[in-house]
Amino acid sequence: MAVNRTPFIAGNWKMNLDHLQAIAFVQKLAWSLADAKHDAADAEVAVFPPFTDLRSVQTLVAADDLPLAYGAQDLSQHDSGAYTGEVSGAFLAKLDCRYVIIGHSERRTLHGESDAEVNAKVKAAHRHGLIPVLCVGETAEDLEQHGASAVPVAQLRAALEGVDAGKGLVVAYEPVWAIGSGKAATPDQAQQVAAALRGVLAEIAGEELAAATRILYGGSVKAVNIAAFLREADVDGALVGGASLDLDEFSSIVRFKKHVGA
Ligand code: 13P
Repeated sequence: MAVNRTPFIAGNWKMNLDHLQAIAFVQKLAWSLADAKHDAADAEVAVFPPFTDLRSVQTLVAADDLPLAYGAQDLSQHDSGAYTGEVSGAFLAKLDCRYVIIGHSERRTLHGESDAEVNAKVKAAHRHGLIPVLCVGETAEDLEQHGASAVPVAQLRAALEGVDAGKGLVVAYEPVWAIGSGKAATPDQAQQVAAALRGVLAEIAGEELAAATRILYGGSVKAVNIAAFLREADVDGALVGGASLDLDEFSSIVRFKKHVGA
């Protein structure tokens, strides 16, 4: 974590919580953070609910002026047309989404998303003023064969082909073997890959933009391990899955500075 980058704590709900549950959760999260006098300068907080919840979350956040950002878990590479089941970035922008997750490993593996599609989705997000939270990460086999950085670095290069990163970007390093396994990467490992990713950003988009871009770690992040990740120079926050569905746990992760003495 560097002083000039505001830490970013993002909750990827995956396919959990319907819109009624989302309203209750977001309301309680806002209360919990207000109670704890959470300072937005300590960490920006964002939730990534399923598509069907976004309108409800938007209404709640706007009505109560909650200090929470939100976004979608995916978007179409196309803007409109005969793409049954897809959701356009234009629709997400209309719902005031600030962010959109792109290239999550579950989309890459379960839905066969290629680097080219991820690249097209990053461009689609930018067309609609959305900030991609671009996920990269190696599998256990990749780790064994190529080390930790090679695959994430290659994925980042491919995703940013022809992209103006100045239009907004968050990168999330999520080793596939750490997702939902309870076996997080070590802070040192996360730092090494985050530094390599920042190096690629510097090469592609310049030092200044690289220094301003937040790089998150994701994979079995919990309240007990968040502080150690954020002590690393190039890790600027976390993309949290399972623990983002537990109000106390997520709220504690957001308040990593106060609670765990980072
Ligand atoms: P877990 O925090 O459940 O390991 O999930 C991480 C993740 O995939 C966030 O996008």
